[in-house]
Amino acid sequence: MPENETTAPSLENLLHETRAFPPSSAFAAQANAQPSMYEDAAADRLGFWATQARDLVTWSTPFTQTLDWSGAPVARWFADGKLNAAYNAVDRHVEAGLGDRVALHFEGEPGDTRTVTYADLQREVSRAANALESLGVRTGDRVVIYLPMLVESVVAMLACARIGAPHSVVFGGFSADALRSRIADAEAKVVITADGGYRRGAPSALKPAVDEALAPKEGAPATTVEHVLVVRRTGQDVDWTEGRDVWWHDAVDGASEVHEPVQVEAEHPLFILYTSGTTGKPKGILHTTGGYLTQAAYTHKYVFDLKPESDVYWCTADIGWVTGHSYVVYGPLANGATQVLYEGTPDTPHRGRWWELVEKYKVSILYTAPTAIRTCMKWGEDVPAGFDLSSLRVLGSVGEPINPEAWMWYRRVIGGDTAPIVDTWWQTETGAIMISPLPGVTATKPGSAQVALPGIVADVVDDEAHSVPDGGGGYLVLSEPWPAMLRGIWGDLQRFKDTYWSRFEGLYFAGDGAKKDEDGDIWLLGRVDDVMNVSGHRLSTTEIESALVSHDVVAEAAVVGAADDTTGQAVVAFVILRGEHADRATTPEGAEEVQAELRNHVAVQIGPIAKPRRILVVPELPKTRSGKIMRRLLRDVAENRTVGDATTLADSSVMDLISAGLKKPS
Ligand code: WT7
Repeated sequence: MPENETTAPSLENLLHETRAFPPSSAFAAQANAQPSMYEDAAADRLGFWATQARDLVTWSTPFTQTLDWSGAPVARWFADGKLNAAYNAVDRHVEAGLGDRVALHFEGEPGDTRTVTYADLQREVSRAANALESLGVRTGDRVVIYLPMLVESVVAMLACARIGAPHSVVFGGFSADALRSRIADAEAKVVITADGGYRRGAPSALKPAVDEALAPKEGAPATTVEHVLVVRRTGQDVDWTEGRDVWWHDAVDGASEVHEPVQVEAEHPLFILYTSGTTGKPKGILHTTGGYLTQAAYTHKYVFDLKPESDVYWCTADIGWVTGHSYVVYGPLANGATQVLYEGTPDTPHRGRWWELVEKYKVSILYTAPTAIRTCMKWGEDVPAGFDLSSLRVLGSVGEPINPEAWMWYRRVIGGDTAPIVDTWWQTETGAIMISPLPGVTATKPGSAQVALPGIVADVVDDEAHSVPDGGGGYLVLSEPWPAMLRGIWGDLQRFKDTYWSRFEGLYFAGDGAKKDEDGDIWLLGRVDDVMNVSGHRLSTTEIESALVSHDVVAEAAVVGAADDTTGQAVVAFVILRGEHADRATTPEGAEEVQAELRNHVAVQIGPIAKPRRILVVPELPKTRSGKIMRRLLRDVAENRTVGDATTLADSSVMDLISAGLKKPS
């Protein structure tokens, strides 16, 4: 482990976890997954993937080559094949006579609903693709999507895919500044947004952030955006830029419902999705079409045991995150699933809203995040007990390690003590699930993602890249290329190589600590780099530090993720104020004012999700002789622990100074 990090506490806890839940014979008998898949994939890995690609995806030009790794670490999968992702997600199901099957049960937060069949979706996506083309969007142009969870959000993504225009979805919780930098980096031609969306019982505006992101700004490049397509959702007043802004209903509703999907090469970019890394600048993770779609469909079918004719599937993730891309849009739709799409928050208008939806739509597969499960635990089990959850038969977890107690609660209270839980490890970069139990095959263990899926090769290695023995701990790596792997960072090949491929020769370094138990099963232990995980959302310590330092009163800042019972981690910032402002924080009122100002500043710079939970004004920061901030020590303070070994500090009295200052009544 690096000097300033440690995963020891979680390792200790997890070593005591010995419960296991073998699949019932009834579940195993009907399961999609079979134990033989592991053997098949091990015997002929590329052949296994080629079979998945042929079975689960429809190609307009069949591929003859499976993997070309000659340009490593940029892979080419199924490269001589051609296909269209939207055709695969929609049209082929209609052609197969399934046009009347419900694709989306949309439920708005205020309770409005909309049922969208695959035939409806085909018409809507075709209209939207025609509308985008009439706004000048061509194959290869980038489109930024900044929308709440609406039917139009799914339609917009698929309309882009239909014309081969890579989309870049920006989560609606990001600020105008964050949106501006993503639009600029992707050099987008069109932005698709809405007047607003409903959140916690009230309309929440989105369009103003787009207006602000596109306004000329000193020092920023002129925007490449020609049009803004605006969905009317809340009816809020919006500012309008004539010639640039177009209402979705004006452009889309009257467009032709016939559109010929553009057949693209397998390696044609499907989307760019920005995610936080260890430096301040977000990375545009690039995914292409054929390999991505293959693995999204494969994992969705086997990890969730999807039976498209009878299951009702619900993934609670927002389309602004990769989970929404792979497990709301591409995976489930490629598999012809019927799913629930919910706009709002779990506690509006009441804390049973999710369970009410499970009962109403008879949801059979639920995929959510540990932070949501812990929140429900906090609200008490009498809330879900008020609803009929007996339709649930598979439960998924993603985004961060799930602690065994939350896992057990999920299984017992939500899964009626029978539904298998699949704890799925993957990343924006991996594009699709990589490590997970297979329901019906794996005996599940609370808290462990357990095994690499058939076709995936993962390992835990030590500092020298040696595979650790069972019982040992180290870093998670992926040893072989996989179909949905990122093809690079948009516009920055060198950063791609440096970030993932330079740590261990020939191995993909994921950034997670992990251990192998006595059975060789993998347990994830959290990030070993400067990336935090707050409610399953990825935030960079450096990015928040840069935001804080960009405020006039701040001289220096250090940010850590402190353990939090509900959100996994919480952002805690330590700031040194500039000389002339230092006095402001000497009174409790003054300190509060500074803290409020800084929290607000971070919300403006990055978005409300990045706001520090706590901001501590300190006289110094703990640094090593080489000037590296020792976040481990700050985390001790933030988690109210005795401060650990501080002997490598350049000035060992700094921690006393910090602790003494914080003990003052504040
Ligand atoms: C990071 C990736 C994958 C979609 C959502 C997050 C953590 C994710 C698990 C899991 C332990 C997990 C890792 C990973 N993570 N799933 N099942 N168990 N940790 O995508 O924002 O790219 O974040 O989330 O630390 O590196 P992301």
